[in-house]
Amino acid sequence: MSARYPLPAAQHSIAARFLGDRGAVREATERFGSPLHVVFPQVMAENAAALEQVLSGHGVPHEVFYAHKVNASRALLAEAYAAGLGVDVASSAELDRALAAGFAPDRIEATGPKSPAFIERIAALGVTANADDLWELDRLSDAVPDGSTVPVLLRLSGFASPAVPPSRFGIDLADTGAALEAVRRAPGLDLRGVAFHLDTADPAARVDALTEAMVVVAAAHRNGLRPSVIDIGGGFRQRFVDDPVPFQRYAQALATPGDLVWPGHDVAAPAAHKYGNHHPATDVLERFLTAEIERRPVAEVLRECLLTLWIEPGKALVDHAGVTLASVLYRKRAAGRDLVVLDLSRNQIAPADQEVLVDPILVDPALVDPALVDGRRERPGDGFFLAGRLCLESDLISRRKVFLDSEPVSGDVLAFVNTAAYQMDLSASAAAGHPPPPKVAAVLDGDRFIFTADDDHGS
Ligand SMILES: Cc1ncc(COP(=O)(O)O)c(C=O)c1O
Repeated sequence: MSARYPLPAAQHSIAARFLGDRGAVREATERFGSPLHVVFPQVMAENAAALEQVLSGHGVPHEVFYAHKVNASRALLAEAYAAGLGVDVASSAELDRALAAGFAPDRIEATGPKSPAFIERIAALGVTANADDLWELDRLSDAVPDGSTVPVLLRLSGFASPAVPPSRFGIDLADTGAALEAVRRAPGLDLRGVAFHLDTADPAARVDALTEAMVVVAAAHRNGLRPSVIDIGGGFRQRFVDDPVPFQRYAQALATPGDLVWPGHDVAAPAAHKYGNHHPATDVLERFLTAEIERRPVAEVLRECLLTLWIEPGKALVDHAGVTLASVLYRKRAAGRDLVVLDLSRNQIAPADQEVLVDPILVDPALVDPALVDGRRERPGDGFFLAGRLCLESDLISRRKVFLDSEPVSGDVLAFVNTAAYQMDLSASAAAGHPPPPKVAAVLDGDRFIFTADDDHGS
């Protein structure tokens, strides 16, 4: 047998309990079908409490806005509301869902590029606008009803620090003078603060961006404006593995040519390295708050400057708050390799086509349907690839070889863990008439799970 490279996924106790519960998995798949996205609102509540503990532990005035774009689930949105969070919406549809979930306009922030129609609604409701461009400021100013104001954050980018990755979003620092002037002249715009969102978890990058953002805050004050918020966005990471070593070993093995990857593909893309992370999001936040600006901790600097810290976590709030179940249709040999074909499409599990780099869990087949265990189960083999059901050669659920302790057979259920962040929705399509998998919220009540169809949540 050639070398094996399993990539065991970290599991939250609630997800592990669900996947090991004979009645629960069977009930979920019988009632809601396969494939199926299962979300765990209780895990989200736990994640929110953990972030809150770090923030209050440092005595920093703060607000947490759930980045709704991470998952369209109504149950998770309702949980964010119940946890007392605000919400960050990126479209009119997300705004509708937030209002329906009970969020008052002053608990809603709108981020990302905005259409004129979205801007009209933001202005009419008084939702905080996190402005991506001067064009948005002009539109907002025109849309604000006479006699009222709309709170505004200037989203900044173009930071001088080389640690901060370049971004296509936000107002370039070179244009902030013009942006401040635009706000100052518009009676309907109330400058609440400045914002940024970085595509990195590196605390040094965030501290550098904060330092440069504070220069803009100071300039605003000199211009007679009174910003009091610094919004550092999201990007606090997920924790996919308990132990990073198998991931590192696998990454090394990928560096030499071999048969670990389906021909014609490359899974060693840098984006994949998020799967090697074993640090919780609370560590990223803690390291940011304790990092130093001119030898004083960030938390102390924020307190002294009377600034309120806003964060917009997506991934960190839904870390481990969902799993995706898919059934094995059949196994076959193709292109000289072992292939396991699932009733799932790659775009329903892989966000923006990123390879999922942790192993699925083979749910004990007897849990789902004892009649389907046909005795053909083999001892661990040389690994297999997972295929989807679309008419695309590229529709492989895993373009990398997967190694499990037990070989899946037709009728088994595979569970992909920790899929609630972007994986369920970001790229999902209904191609070839396969609708996106339904979602169900699973709540552990005593010793059993209670299921609610996500679409019915709150109705
Ligand atoms: C403006 C903004 N805030 C917050 C987030 C959430 O980021 P994350 O899921 O990495 O926490 C995003 C993600 O794209 C974003 O664009």
